[in-house]
Amino acid sequence: MSRRILVTSALPYANGAIHLGHLVEYIQTDIWVRFQKMRGHQCWYVCADDTHGTPIMLRAEKEGIKPEDLIARVHTEHSRDFAGFHVAFDNYHSTHSDETRHYAEDIYGKLKAAGLIEVRAIEQHYDPVKQMFLPDRFIKGECPKCGAADQYGDSCEACGAAYAPTELKNPRSAVSGAVPELRSSDHYFFKLSDPRCQEFLRRATREVCKAQPEAVNKLQEWLGAPGENKLTDWDISRDAPYFGFEIPGAPGKYFYVWLDAPIGYMGSFRNLCAKKGIDFDDFWGKDSTAELYHFVGKDILYFHALFWPAELEHAGYRIPSGVFAHGFLTVDGAKMSKSRGTFITAESYLKEGLNPEWLRYYFAAKLNGTMEDIDLNLEDFVARVNSDLVGKYINIASRCAGFISKRFDGKLAAVGSNSIIEEMAAAAEPVAQCFEARDFARAVREIMALADKANAYIATAKPWEIAKQEGQDAALHQVCSEGLAMFRLLTIYLAPVLPQLAQSAARFLGVERFTWADAAQPLPAGHRISDYEHLMQRVDTKQIDALVAANRESLAPAADAHSQQRHAQHQQQAEDKVQAKSAWEPFISIDDFSKVDLRIARIANAEHVEGAEKLLKLTLDLGTETRTVFAGIKSAYDPATLVGRLTVMVANLAPRKMKFGLSEGMVLAASDPDGKSTGLFLLSPDSGAQPGMRVK
Ligand code: MSP
Ligand code: ZN
Repeated sequence: MSRRILVTSALPYANGAIHLGHLVEYIQTDIWVRFQKMRGHQCWYVCADDTHGTPIMLRAEKEGIKPEDLIARVHTEHSRDFAGFHVAFDNYHSTHSDETRHYAEDIYGKLKAAGLIEVRAIEQHYDPVKQMFLPDRFIKGECPKCGAADQYGDSCEACGAAYAPTELKNPRSAVSGAVPELRSSDHYFFKLSDPRCQEFLRRATREVCKAQPEAVNKLQEWLGAPGENKLTDWDISRDAPYFGFEIPGAPGKYFYVWLDAPIGYMGSFRNLCAKKGIDFDDFWGKDSTAELYHFVGKDILYFHALFWPAELEHAGYRIPSGVFAHGFLTVDGAKMSKSRGTFITAESYLKEGLNPEWLRYYFAAKLNGTMEDIDLNLEDFVARVNSDLVGKYINIASRCAGFISKRFDGKLAAVGSNSIIEEMAAAAEPVAQCFEARDFARAVREIMALADKANAYIATAKPWEIAKQEGQDAALHQVCSEGLAMFRLLTIYLAPVLPQLAQSAARFLGVERFTWADAAQPLPAGHRISDYEHLMQRVDTKQIDALVAANRESLAPAADAHSQQRHAQHQQQAEDKVQAKSAWEPFISIDDFSKVDLRIARIANAEHVEGAEKLLKLTLDLGTETRTVFAGIKSAYDPATLVGRLTVMVANLAPRKMKFGLSEGMVLAASDPDGKSTGLFLLSPDSGAQPGMRVK
């Protein structure tokens, strides 16, 4: 049955360039949307620039242009970058639009009518020189907890403390450098503390986040225990000067950017409806049976899982069917850094001539639908793209296609019964399930396992040798046609990830395009294909070096505004911290660590070993199997006291032949670093852990 699905990615701020971190999200969403479309569903993908707020206002001012001109320029740049990575929005709009204004006013009006808006005077820092109230991020001073200098108004990067900007010591405006004054002003609040909101959020948002247990835990933390009501009212107004929408009936007061940002999803969709004749209410009406999903970063889950559903619910709209949060991108195991050249912009990646589908594939291979951070390891990137895409997948076509063109007039033979092709065709549903569940990493693993089988088949059949033999035309025709049938199936499964390549492959195979259902239907005998042209180049390490060099920024502070200098210095300090040689280097990445499979094991038996000075022979129960491990802990433990207790073992350590037998793993124990015998201490888990549980 065909589904009706509306999908969004978060709206990027209109004051900065798209970088590879952003692309984790847009590529993830685009893959999912393309998959849904290939399945024959009606799926719309909308996004927009997030254009309002103080930073954008100040940025335009600094450039000496109107905010409208800044956001128009950035809209062009963002659209270009997304198109460059084949992120195919059905609509890319702007929050500074009539549609978004309409829904912002509409939702605000309905919340007000429901008694959920309250006006209260609050005290805030005011810059007397610039004559504006200062957002937290534009105030700097000394941390009230640890005294560190040059900290932002909301949190300290030195000690991690969070505080109110009014607690900061010796505060300064980061805009003018002036000492801010405390001034009182009326603010508009959305009453999240109202029992109706609390009750609704407790009931509904768990459902919205149910795809991700980590997100459900976060919600629990934010909402507090039943009756605890940790949510406080949300300040949705800002004072002029502000770039945004003025609040109806409140001159000089503007909607806070986070109020109209998610409403921008509706605005963009409304704009699409007008172009395509779609019924807006069919997707957003209270009783809509369409599906609505928001893909977001974990940093903005709070807004999407709490504020947004509460706004929609109490303004009479439907709430999201799901919010899917992803983790943050690190490069080579660390936060993206301008000084190291790992803060890589989308534009520079394309300018350096790197293929966007390499990145799409790499991200897909790492995205598993959870909130875990994902690491772009540049060395691994090169290795993986070259070995998987070029070495395994493309290789199948390049080994078979030439013979079909040269010897068989470009026509395919009938595909007989071939167990590998059958297995590959049968994978259509399991692979689809992985895409549906956003476990692209698993989809990619399964697809590559199939590619391995296809390659093994061709390596055994050796078409290049059959080609040299007299009278073997039929066999050659058969093998090459089968190889291409395998290549075609892999192409269908990879098409959401590699849309451009899939299109070139479709042209080569003489078809218009692929749908998922095509996997069940092989190309008929006599079907004509085109001449093969190489579909994808290998990545050259030199290209990566050039990319990093192009993104490396010198740390000399820009010479214009005072605040910018301070910002640069601040950033330098932060990066120096990361860069300083640590006694713990070389660091390992999380991927290195996850190679070690640590498991809870129950010591089922422990005994002395004849003739061994240091060893005990342990029998470890992993729940599903038992292992024998020789452990050098005799000096510290009497075997009888060990039986029955739980400990931690390395379960995937290669078995080692020892003098007394085969040791199948290792148990973990603490000891003095230089081995002086102050004792040995076996690890044990907190109670509740069960044999076989993974430790990570
Ligand atoms: N404008 C808000 C979103 C409003 S949605 C109604 C915003 N913009 S952003 O430009 O800062 O981020 C856009 C999206 O990109 C967010 O979902 C954010 O989590 C994601 N990412 C930005 N940097 C990222 C990484 N380094 N890694 C992964 N995703 C990151 O937030
Ligand atoms: Zn501090």
